[in-house]
Amino acid sequence: MTTAISVSPSPSQLSIISSAIPSYTHMAHNSSLLSLLFLYLFAISSAKVFFEERFDDGWENRWVKSDWKKEENTAGEWNHTSGKWNGDPNDKGIQTSEDHRFYAISAEFPAFSNKDKTLVFQFSVKHEQKLDCGGGYMKLLSGEVDQKKFGGDTPYSIMFGPDICGYSTKKVHAILTYNGTNHLIKKEVPCETDQLTHVYTFIIRPDATYSILVDNVEKKSGSLYTDWNLLPPKKIKDPEAKKPDDWDDKEYIPDPEDKKPEGYDQIPKEIPDTDAKKPEDWDDEEDGEWTAPTIANPEYKGPWKPKKIKNPNYQGKWKAPMIDNPDFKDDPDLYVFPNLKYVGIELWQVKSGTLFDNILITDEPEYALKFAEETWGKTKDAEKAAFEEAEKKKEEEESKDEPGDTDDEDEDDDNADDAEGDDDKEAKSEDSSELHDEL
Ligand SMILES: *[C@@H]1O[C@H](CO)[C@@H](O)[C@H](O)[C@H]1NC(C)=O
Ligand SMILES: *[C@@H]1O[C@H](CO)[C@@H](O)[C@H](O)[C@H]1NC(C)=O
Repeated sequence: MTTAISVSPSPSQLSIISSAIPSYTHMAHNSSLLSLLFLYLFAISSAKVFFEERFDDGWENRWVKSDWKKEENTAGEWNHTSGKWNGDPNDKGIQTSEDHRFYAISAEFPAFSNKDKTLVFQFSVKHEQKLDCGGGYMKLLSGEVDQKKFGGDTPYSIMFGPDICGYSTKKVHAILTYNGTNHLIKKEVPCETDQLTHVYTFIIRPDATYSILVDNVEKKSGSLYTDWNLLPPKKIKDPEAKKPDDWDDKEYIPDPEDKKPEGYDQIPKEIPDTDAKKPEDWDDEEDGEWTAPTIANPEYKGPWKPKKIKNPNYQGKWKAPMIDNPDFKDDPDLYVFPNLKYVGIELWQVKSGTLFDNILITDEPEYALKFAEETWGKTKDAEKAAFEEAEKKKEEEESKDEPGDTDDEDEDDDNADDAEGDDDKEAKSEDSSELHDEL
C-alpha cells in the first residue's frame, strides 16, 4: 500500500534532477541555473505523493479486479508485462490481453481533498495493438466505492486520458464531475496515436487553472471556469436590450456624389453586327430588305447605379451589451474534489493491447515531471528502437510468408482489413454512446 509520503531527493538523485533541468531552462533564461536548481529541489522536497504505482511485483495486492461483466463472461484479463516492445523488459505495467472485453480494476489510497492544493494526475499508456477505436483513460473515484463492483456506471470525479476512434476522434478526454454531473472539456486536446508509450498529465490548481501535458509538454492550459461548463456563464447578453431604431449597421452606402454620365440611358442594349454580310442569295424582292442581325453592345452596362462607398456613419454590427448573469453564483471551491480515494481503469476494448504504467497522484508538478523523466524518459528511445526492430521483423516475415504474392491476394487482404475496421467502428459507436449516455 502506498501511503502519503514526503519526498526528499537523495544525493544520488541530484544527477537525475539536473539532467531533467535543461528541459526547463527555456522557461527561465534569465535565472541562473543554480537558483533554478534550488527552487526545483525545494519544490520536490515538499511534494506530497498520494499514490505512486510502477507495477513492480506485488502489484496484485494493491489492485482489485472488479467482478463487473464476469457473469456475462465478458470481463477481460490483465497481463503483467512490459509488452512486445519496450525499453526495459523488467519495467512492467498492466496490459489488456483479450479482445472484445470489458476491463475494470482499481486501487485505493488514503483519502484526501485537493482543497488549497495542486492536484497532479499522471500515467503512461501504450497502445501496442495499433488502436483503431478505444480509450486509454483512467479515473479518479471518490467516496465509498465498492471496488468489486467498479464498472461503467460507477460515479467518478475525474476521467482523463487519450481516446482514439477512426480519423475523427484523436483527443485527450478530461471530464470533471461537478455537482453530480459529468462535464467534458470544451477544448480540443490532441493525443498521441502511435504504438509507443506516452505520458499524460492533468494538473488542476487552487486558482482554478489547469494544464494538460503529453510527454512533459504542455498541450493545453486555461481556466476551469471557461474551458468546462461547470457553472453558468458569469456574463450574458442583456436579454432586455434592443437594437436602437437609428442604429446604422450599413457598412456601404451609394455614393451621393456619383452622377449618371450624360447620355448613359441612350446607350443601346444591342447593336447591329457590323461583321455580318448580306447573304449572296438574298433576294430583296422575295425576302424583303436585308438588315444586319444585332449583337449585345459591349458598351451597355445595364441600368445606372451610383457606386458604393464606405458609410461614414457606420456603427458596426449591433451587439447586445453583456450583463452579470443573475444565475451565476461563484464557487471558490470549483476545483475541489473533497474525498478522492481510488484510482481506476474502466475500459471496453475491441482490440486489446493497451498497457498502463507509472501512475502518479501528487500535489507537485515538478515531482511528476521528474517521475516521468525517470521512467518514460529513460526508456523511450530504447522502446522506439525495439518497436522499429519489431516492425522490420514483421515486414520481413510477411514478405517471406508470401513469396508469390499477387495483386489479387493483396486485394483480399485489404478487404479483410476493411471488414475488421467496420466491426471496430460499430463497436465504438456502442462505446461512444455509452460514454455520451454517461455525460
Ligand atoms: C503477456 O504479454 C507478453 C508480451 O507481449 C506475451 O508474450 C504473452 O503471451 C502475454 N500473455 C497473455 C496471457 O496474454
Ligand atoms: C447542482 O445541482 C442541482 C440539482 O441538479 C441544481 O439545482 C443546482 O443548481 C446545481 N448547482 C450548481 C452550483 O450547479
